Amino acid sequence: MCGVVGYIGHREALPLLLEGLKRLEYRGYDSAGIALLGGNKIHTIKSVGKIESLEKSLKGQSHKATLGIAHTRWATHGHPTSENAHPHLDCHGKIALVHNGIIENYEYLKAVLIEEGHTFSSDTDTEVLVHLIEKYYRRDLASAVRFALQEVEGTYGIVVCCAEEPDKLLVARDSSPILVGVGEGEYFVASDVSAVLEHTRKIIYLEDGEVAVVTRNGMITTTRESVPVKKKVEEIHWNLEMIEKKGYHHFMHKEIHEQPSSIRNALRGRVDEVNGWPRLGMFFEKQELLNQLKRIVVLACGTSWHAGLVGEYMMEEFARIPVEVEYASEFRYRNPILGDGTVAIAISQSGETADTLAAMREAKQRGATTLSIVNVVGSTISREAEGGVYLHAGPEIGVASTKAFTSELVVLYLITLSIARAGGMEKEKAQNMLLEVETLPERVETILQKEEEIVEIARLYKDTSNFLYLGRGYNFPVALEGALKLKEVSYIHAEGYPAAEMKHGPIALISPEMPVVFIATRDRAYGKVLTNIEEVKARGGRIIAIATEGDLTIQDKVDHVFFIPHTIDPLVPVLSVVPLQLLAYHIAVMKGCDVDKPRNLAKSVTVE
Ligand code: G6P
Repeated sequence: MCGVVGYIGHREALPLLLEGLKRLEYRGYDSAGIALLGGNKIHTIKSVGKIESLEKSLKGQSHKATLGIAHTRWATHGHPTSENAHPHLDCHGKIALVHNGIIENYEYLKAVLIEEGHTFSSDTDTEVLVHLIEKYYRRDLASAVRFALQEVEGTYGIVVCCAEEPDKLLVARDSSPILVGVGEGEYFVASDVSAVLEHTRKIIYLEDGEVAVVTRNGMITTTRESVPVKKKVEEIHWNLEMIEKKGYHHFMHKEIHEQPSSIRNALRGRVDEVNGWPRLGMFFEKQELLNQLKRIVVLACGTSWHAGLVGEYMMEEFARIPVEVEYASEFRYRNPILGDGTVAIAISQSGETADTLAAMREAKQRGATTLSIVNVVGSTISREAEGGVYLHAGPEIGVASTKAFTSELVVLYLITLSIARAGGMEKEKAQNMLLEVETLPERVETILQKEEEIVEIARLYKDTSNFLYLGRGYNFPVALEGALKLKEVSYIHAEGYPAAEMKHGPIALISPEMPVVFIATRDRAYGKVLTNIEEVKARGGRIIAIATEGDLTIQDKVDHVFFIPHTIDPLVPVLSVVPLQLLAYHIAVMKGCDVDKPRNLAKSVTVE
């Protein structure tokens, strides 16, 4: 997500901070900013877009400050504008702060602070933190930071400086990484080691709940409650490229492994278990709007379209609302019927896909209410939609979408429950369904731990020319997504089909040369899928099955089986897709393909 940098030492801070920010560019960002502290004054410079534009706005200026903080922002709350870019300042411009993470209770805190007379100048969740620190400031920045953090719910990695204490940086962490690089009479703070490695390989990692005071002479770490903590200096031996990918060889691999945390982020602050309601804000909490809802049209392309298909199954089953899932590119050229009571939901990781945007505009023009499910905050689709839900999955850099898909499924599930509750779903049922979705991060983790089993399967089938993916019910869109992942990154021809549809064509292709991947989890379609497995076996097909843990029946019927944990039917796709992402990834790597930038593909398709 965002990137954080800080410097305190004897050198000019500005070029060091700019260089640190550039090292964080690979993480994706939409705006950047710097605060320099010199002559007991804080000077901030912010800009939207690339770091070069920040550099341009600094041209000709000289800043001798030897202390500063900086930030690359990847918007989560508030559009990518200069006002929303960090660093944020308190009311008097004396305290500056950069933050990576999400303050979940910011709306409440902001209301209280405004009531107490604080003036806000951004739409961010972050700004409440700097005002809270201001509220507690009594000529001791460390105490003020500690007090402020005790009121905050959410995640943070922060660096703070204060004009009245010009020789220190305050650094703190909870669930968002932050580290301090140790130099000779100088310290480099960053959210990511790649930003400091040029200068030092000696690193002190802060743990959750720790607060550090960094001066030119040393660093003192305590807990938020002021209990002293002894820190260890670690020596880093990785190279920069390894670090940007967090030790993974490819962004796609890193992003597959990020899914436990990206799913957590999609759920963060959005589950009210007590009342059995998702908390999605706006449209989804307005009973009168939900009551008028008669039909949903989902508009999307590629992987997001597959997520939409799962959404259709969920919403029709639990919310009892008719749903159509449209290829955005087809929708606008076929004179669709829309009108009162129709809600069009555009799903897009990038929020910029030209066909999805055009389809959404068309839907709006024809009288539908438009909503969006988007990852990139402030993107065109999210701005033009009348309402929406962000994925908060963090930047997805690998061209083949992985973590955005599972986050889209989770958000669609929460939307389904909102509509279902408004339509009369009992509280207890909704509570149980919300509890179930919260178990997913851990379950995805257990799948990822068995990655080696997928590597073995990939090794056996990497030289195959064709693959067939079959699934039924909620797993039919997963079959489509599994096949799409394989073709995108390994260039192997793969087709996804509803398992029973196989008899109407693809069965002619079955042979030992064409492996068939069955997504055969223990859901209501299971019995039928077993029959389809027999049909393939009878024709000499080789079968890889994704099945539910403890399923002894399937083991004897297939050539390879990968077990995933049990969950309720509508959530199975979040789990069953993960081994298929890994299979595509490992086959592509074994074939020597350019996994993160497959030939001919683009991350964001902005042409129709
Ligand atoms: C491109 C990408 C796909 C993605 C599709 C839709 O084709 O390569 O991975 O699924 O666009 O992108 P969106 O950003 O709208 O979800």
